[in-house]
Amino acid sequence: MTNSIYLTTIEPYSGKSLVSLGITELLLRRTPKVGIFRPVIEVLPDKGCDKNIELLVDYYDLDLDYEDTYAFYRHEVADLMAEGLYDEVLDKIIEKYKILEEKCDFLLSIGSDFEEGGSAVEFNYNADIARNLGSPVLLVASGAGQTIDHIINEVKIAIETFEESGCQILGAVVNRTDPEIIDDLLDAMEEELPTKHTLVSVIPSRDKLSSPTVKEIADYMDARVLYGEDKLENLAFNYLIIAMKIANYLPYLRKNSLLITPGDRCDVLLSALQAHQSQNYPKIAGILLTGGLKPPDSVDRLLTGLSDIVPILSVPEDTYKTSTRIGHVRSYISADASAKIRLSLRLFDRHVDTVALENQLVALPDQGITPRMFIHSLIQQAKSNKQHIVLPEGTDERILRASASLRRHDVVDITFLGEPDEIQSLIYNLGLTRELGDVPIINPVKSPHYREYAQTLLDLRRHKGMNMDMALDQMSDVAYYGTMMVLKGDADGMVSGAAHTTQHTIRPALQFVKTKPGISIVSSVFFMALPDRVLVYGDCAVIPNPNAEQLAAIAISSAETARRFGVIPRVAMLSYSSGPSGTGEDVEKVRQATQLAQERRPDLMIEGPIQYDAAVALDVAAKKMPDSEVAGKATVFIFPDLNTGNNTYKAVQRETGAIAIGPVLQGLKKPVNDLSRGCTVEDVVNTVAITAIQAQED
Ligand code: ACO
Repeated sequence: MTNSIYLTTIEPYSGKSLVSLGITELLLRRTPKVGIFRPVIEVLPDKGCDKNIELLVDYYDLDLDYEDTYAFYRHEVADLMAEGLYDEVLDKIIEKYKILEEKCDFLLSIGSDFEEGGSAVEFNYNADIARNLGSPVLLVASGAGQTIDHIINEVKIAIETFEESGCQILGAVVNRTDPEIIDDLLDAMEEELPTKHTLVSVIPSRDKLSSPTVKEIADYMDARVLYGEDKLENLAFNYLIIAMKIANYLPYLRKNSLLITPGDRCDVLLSALQAHQSQNYPKIAGILLTGGLKPPDSVDRLLTGLSDIVPILSVPEDTYKTSTRIGHVRSYISADASAKIRLSLRLFDRHVDTVALENQLVALPDQGITPRMFIHSLIQQAKSNKQHIVLPEGTDERILRASASLRRHDVVDITFLGEPDEIQSLIYNLGLTRELGDVPIINPVKSPHYREYAQTLLDLRRHKGMNMDMALDQMSDVAYYGTMMVLKGDADGMVSGAAHTTQHTIRPALQFVKTKPGISIVSSVFFMALPDRVLVYGDCAVIPNPNAEQLAAIAISSAETARRFGVIPRVAMLSYSSGPSGTGEDVEKVRQATQLAQERRPDLMIEGPIQYDAAVALDVAAKKMPDSEVAGKATVFIFPDLNTGNNTYKAVQRETGAIAIGPVLQGLKKPVNDLSRGCTVEDVVNTVAITAIQAQED
């Protein structure tokens, strides 16, 4: 089941407060710990709180700190985007979301308001945020004043665009719709919308919800309330500008009209109040006097003597300016507007199939951790208990740039190996002195530990025919020296391989760091960050031709690594055959490995042999392995050998643009990790963070 929804609109004033009330009510039936999150809000701090957040938090008395419920003011997002710092926007949103996620069982995120017309940029960043939070999207559109064709077209484009951005669609709700077209619109939506299984609902427009109160009008217009202070909650359904004489304007009066007239038109004022009292005319909402003109004393005396009077407001602007401005007054549902809230919930209940919505929430798989969240949590976890990582390739520019970024964010302590003069001058030339000027640099052969480390190596490898000369020679190699620092506890982990082969990087660890107790082999995984989720591939880097025993060990280690880094392990033991039907040596090896792994770890979800398509696609899984708890939903993929694993990860990486993070070695007593020689600065940052997290366990 999913544990979040991203409620978003595509235009301003679509009535998402009503939908958010309905959803919150529904969620609170499941759990009291519902969180409200708005990535981007409009209201500045000196203008109070965001109305949508305030409504839900106050009305439902949710235990949330206001500061936790939003990430940015809209202008801040625009400024950061203009500076090319969009990544910072997404990272901070994830950071704030994660804080709330810790405290809540279910999060309702509400997209930006699209005020001031909205834009493609705003649409796109809402889609990006929803995807990066891994939340299915519930779209709210406005049907106000639109034809069926127009509404369908807008919703269709929005759904397609969200889907193309990698978002899951939960449903589409068209609110504020003309009651006359509801049935036809609903039919057309069910017929024409691209995603057949999404929930579609149409909610009718109600004057009582869309109309502002006289108080909202007075506040927006900075009007003075002259009379009728106790009736400010009157709703204004429409505005009527009165310039005509009494006999001519009276027929235009409508239910809950707000009359706008110059302040010296006492004839209009008094006749309107009479009409309000009359059985033969509709009740009005109030009167707005323009031009700063107030009723003269004689009329004031009359008015103050009336027992029941509608609100009468006064503004300094003339009638023309007032009538233009008043069109911008918006009505909001506030926590104390209980009648509006009751009506909203009634409409939601009547027009949204809440049972289907609940079923859909249950059926939608938890998308797991999204790539950006994964990377974000790597850095946060690494920072939470700072470790010391040795980087033997201090002359590689990518290593230096990554180290600068890691130091800037205070993620790890670092030591470089190499010739200090050479590395320092590189640091200087790259302009990284501020971040890296004080990083220790060790030249192994000049280090006071050189002989001591060689002696330890000799002690550990004497039985392999090693002598002191050989040990000294090996210890002059940065990979051996760095690995020995880790073994000795002079560093917590090592990351190398930007300029060296995998063999060069990991052989020292295999030779003398060795495996953890109870673990027979060292293997590896890649975290494959696809656009919308993170998968784990093992082993794609270490063991060329594992036997069944080794394959079972790789499966168990990979499941543990997945879990350690926030991916729920559902393990697929890949082969060219699914289920019991296939025969042949290779399938048999995978079958045996699956049995061994299942026997050893009955607590894990492990399926095999299984083909890749049956492992990832629900429809294929339904045909080939309908009873499997892994098929269609696998998150950890164990390849039968290195040929398949290594080429598959590279194929997926190249063909889909997925980011491959790894190889992450698993099973070693102390963490050593390898980089690929084509690594980027970001790869180095991620691998160092992973190594630091592994080191935290020791
Ligand atoms: N787990 C635990 N120990 C191991 C493992 C393992 N998987 N493999 C080797 N060892 C140990 C051996 O037992 C031996 O220990 P000992 O010296 O105390 O007896 C020691 O490591 C050295 O073993 P060798 O058999 O000599 O292995 P070698 O060092 O030649 O190679 C290696 C090991 C590097 C892992 C090898 O299996 C290999 O080359 N694998 C493929 C690496 C590769 O090219 N990957 C693809 C590219 S990576 C990428 O694309 C990102």
